[in-house]
Amino acid sequence: MIVRADAAGVRRAAELLRAGSVVAFPTETVYGLGADAFSPTAVGEIYRLKNRPSWNPLIVHVADVAAARKLADPWPAVADELAAAFWPGPLTLVVRRAPHLTQVGADTGTIAIRVPAHDVALRLLAATDLPLAAPSANRSESISPTTAEHVLRSLPEVPLVLDGGPASWGIESTVLDVTGEVPRLLRPGALGLREIREVTGALALPNEVADGSARPSPGMSRRHYAPRAKLILVDEVDPASVDDSVGVLTYETAAIPGAEILSADPREYAADLYAALHRLDDAGMSTILVRTPPPTEEWLAIRDRLSRAAA
Ligand code: TXA
Ligand code: MG
Repeated sequence: MIVRADAAGVRRAAELLRAGSVVAFPTETVYGLGADAFSPTAVGEIYRLKNRPSWNPLIVHVADVAAARKLADPWPAVADELAAAFWPGPLTLVVRRAPHLTQVGADTGTIAIRVPAHDVALRLLAATDLPLAAPSANRSESISPTTAEHVLRSLPEVPLVLDGGPASWGIESTVLDVTGEVPRLLRPGALGLREIREVTGALALPNEVADGSARPSPGMSRRHYAPRAKLILVDEVDPASVDDSVGVLTYETAAIPGAEILSADPREYAADLYAALHRLDDAGMSTILVRTPPPTEEWLAIRDRLSRAAA
């Protein structure tokens, strides 16, 4: 059921979460499927509903840096600097998990934490007084939800979805491993690398780790974020290859009938991308032709999601 995120809605969601149930809630990136992070049954329900492989660990959402520190040991100095610069916001930090805590899903010895920049998420965290594990609220491998309706379409069994309107970023958080000497990018996302480097200086990218210690985010499987339709990346969309069963996703370009035309600004493009893919799927397309975005770093997260959707 979709519920308005007014005081009564948040109270009901918090009661469910405290009773060990799952609840979907909005964040500034995408909607999350939340549960008490340290309740094995509640976390198990997330894995069951999403059909998520048990080796893929979950992000824990907390209200502030003080709550994050309690989950980590050690809490590195660079985590403080990054949190001061970007929290609340779309940056997830992977740190060593405090030893007294049980694992949150897959046991990696680490924990991924972020403070979401969304009023509803923060009110829910305050009302439950719990760290909330929350992966994106979609079936494993499919498109992340940027509206409450997307959540119910992908996960009809979710007992309650708090409606906070469309997600403003529309793409998942950037995941950064800060357990080592040099912060390492595990998943490109909403927060850009330029902004992160301004705080960290050095930043290791997945393909730059040549010493065999490369450990990408366990969730970065080759196929992910995929619509039902077959997605094909092309340099230019040839109007002759388009018919009723072939959808087109492009950006600022000469009109192709029926095409989803997104912005040429990466932030605006990201905000609309998943909703456009959901629409093309709903229209019953068998194939979606996607114009490949520019090769620049500001399009990195978008190219990452599109190439996984096409895999
Ligand atoms: O924007 C987001 O991050 C959204 C919203 C709801 O916060 N959440 C999200 O969660 O995208 P999910 O579960 O779909 O993606 C979490 C990513 C996965 O790639 C997972 O493998 C990685 O973070 N991750 C989680 N815990 C980790 C850990 N301890 N070490 C390394 N990677 C981890
Ligand atoms: Mg996800």
